[in-house]
Amino acid sequence: MLKIGIIGAGRIGKVHAESISKYVKGAEVKAIADLFLNEETRKWAKSMNIQHVYNDYHEILNDTEIDAVLICSSTDTHSSISIEAIKAGKHVFCEKPVDHDVAKIKKVIEIVGNSKCKYQVGFNRRFDHNFRTAKDAVQAGKIGTQHIIKITSRDPEAPPISYVKVSGGMFLDMTIHDFDMVRYLSGSEVEEVYAIGGVLVDAAIGEAGDIDTAIITMKLKNGAMAVIDNCRRATYGYDQRAEVFGSNGSIEIGNDAASTAVLSTDTGVVAEKPLLFFLERYMQAYANEMREFVEAIVNDTDVPVNIVDGLEPVIIGLAAKKSLAENRPVKTTEIKSVFGL
Ligand SMILES: NC(=O)c1ccc[n+]([C@@H]2O[C@H](COP(=O)([O-])OP(=O)(O)OC[C@H]3O[C@@H](n4cnc5c(N)ncnc54)[C@H](O)[C@@H]3O)[C@@H](O)[C@H]2O)c1
Repeated sequence: MLKIGIIGAGRIGKVHAESISKYVKGAEVKAIADLFLNEETRKWAKSMNIQHVYNDYHEILNDTEIDAVLICSSTDTHSSISIEAIKAGKHVFCEKPVDHDVAKIKKVIEIVGNSKCKYQVGFNRRFDHNFRTAKDAVQAGKIGTQHIIKITSRDPEAPPISYVKVSGGMFLDMTIHDFDMVRYLSGSEVEEVYAIGGVLVDAAIGEAGDIDTAIITMKLKNGAMAVIDNCRRATYGYDQRAEVFGSNGSIEIGNDAASTAVLSTDTGVVAEKPLLFFLERYMQAYANEMREFVEAIVNDTDVPVNIVDGLEPVIIGLAAKKSLAENRPVKTTEIKSVFGL
């Protein structure tokens, strides 16, 4: 039985613990650590049969029985805990983003490269049934030569301002999933980015130095073009759609809803709203990503989302930030050259 320790018992740490206990065979969560433990978390851990609950994550790193750790703490801790965990010989699943600072991600890449540890990054949408079906069709050549990739990604509600202030900005916090999706669906790299954005949802987000609405266009290495539209608030729910269009046709994915029922009456035609937010929409995807992480360790195969997949969307995000600030297209090589990449 593979033994796992979770660092960070917040929203996503609890989701992964529950996925492992319900859906992942051959693995169990032995311990969980969080700086700020309360009675509720302790009770929850007990209900999950997690043997140890610590304040200090080093207790997990020092436990020789633990094979792998999930880093689910706040983003500013990811790269340093990654390095410590690999040095302690643990396989690592690290939530996105690995860091906002490319220099720090480079250090993680170096340490991972010199170890035998697996290192997977938490881009969960790659494990979603809709996105995966689209990717498989593109990869099988069904749409022919790629021309345009379109991604719509809108949250049902904006996060609290306290979160916005430490999030690294919308591009590195929210759009980062969409940048990953452009790479995943196309199988290609982003060469150039042009972003426009504004504050249309909540003035406080602007006062905190961020934007809440954006359109980002990209040129890809394979010759295709991509466009992402983002908004921090969509009144009808979590809007997650995509299309890949090419020389032979297109593949389009829509939102998931609680049911496919459509009510038609003399006043109109009504369907279900999209599932509310990421915990509802991507629950199965989170379980799949945990299963594939465990399988990569047990079978000693490549992880499905590696450290380079963790780096590239951060570079695209930094290019988008620069593009917005300077109102011009920015090549990803411009960002990479600053970091000697
Ligand atoms: N892949 C996804 O869909 C997804 C979804 C949500 C969050 N995330 C990422 O997961 C991370 C956590 O997000 P969240 O929403 O669960 O946040 P959260 O605030 O609910 O939980 C984070 C937890 O980490 C704990 N923590 C912080 N520093 C710690 C340390 N040094 N040692 C131990 N615990 C520590 C905090 O006390 C908190 O309980 C973020 O990086 C976020 O970007 C990813």
